[in-house]
Amino acid sequence: MTAAPFPLPVDPTAPLLLFDSGVGGLSVLRKVRLLLPQAPVIYVADNAGLPYGDKTEAQIAARVSGLLGRLTERLRPRLVCIACNTASTIALASVREVLEVPIVGTVPAIKPAAAMTKTGVIGLLGTEATIRQSYVDRLEAEFAADKRLLRHAAPELVAAAEAKLRGDPVDPAVFARAAQTLRMMADGDRIDTVVLACTHFPLVEAELAQAFGPDVSFVDGSDGIARRIAYLTDGQPWERKDADIGLFTRGGNDVDRLKPCLAAHGIGRIALF
Ligand code: DGL
Repeated sequence: MTAAPFPLPVDPTAPLLLFDSGVGGLSVLRKVRLLLPQAPVIYVADNAGLPYGDKTEAQIAARVSGLLGRLTERLRPRLVCIACNTASTIALASVREVLEVPIVGTVPAIKPAAAMTKTGVIGLLGTEATIRQSYVDRLEAEFAADKRLLRHAAPELVAAAEAKLRGDPVDPAVFARAAQTLRMMADGDRIDTVVLACTHFPLVEAELAQAFGPDVSFVDGSDGIARRIAYLTDGQPWERKDADIGLFTRGGNDVDRLKPCLAAHGIGRIALF
């Protein structure tokens, strides 16, 4: 006979841990806050490894599972959210095998995009590492087999989102290039829906909307992730006594300049991990 595990009471101060290579996960945190305003959060940015998008699968898997192993051991979160498409599409399954804490990943929003498109042509913007994943091939086969999915790797948008949140000026040509590259692919002129398959990209959605024009809608996974986290923690007690914590794997001027933006997201204490 197999017995269900005995449900231990959840410590109300046990945090949610959100993980990304940089500030991209803030696009997920925003949505989580709407559903769970009392949840204590530890936001982790592996900025020493940023960007993940130009790394190999082996490098990303090693970094993500090594870091999440140490983080969960030390910080005892009640749930981990890998708020990064690149890390999730590569390492989610292996991290789930070794960690006992519930883990929510970030999946490119191809399913909702397929339901939204009227023209049947969907653009997908992600990192180089994400767009080549078989995980994305499987989502396409399952949900968009009768659609046309045009993929484009746009690492410049990751840097643009980081710069914007630091308060640096961003060259609008970056957004125009992403739009033009998708538009110039076969059938690209019929794109009416764009999947933002990198958590950094919703942070520059207004700039992308400007570049794509009024006939294109954007979709990302953040609403679904927030709902999933709320579902998995349903009925648990929450106690958020202080400003939340941001952990970075590398310090320096760039992190200092992110502080006002982090504070606006409720992250008032910054430390190195
Ligand atoms: N925010 C990450 C994602 O969702 C990736 C950015 C990067 O490190 O390249 O894919």
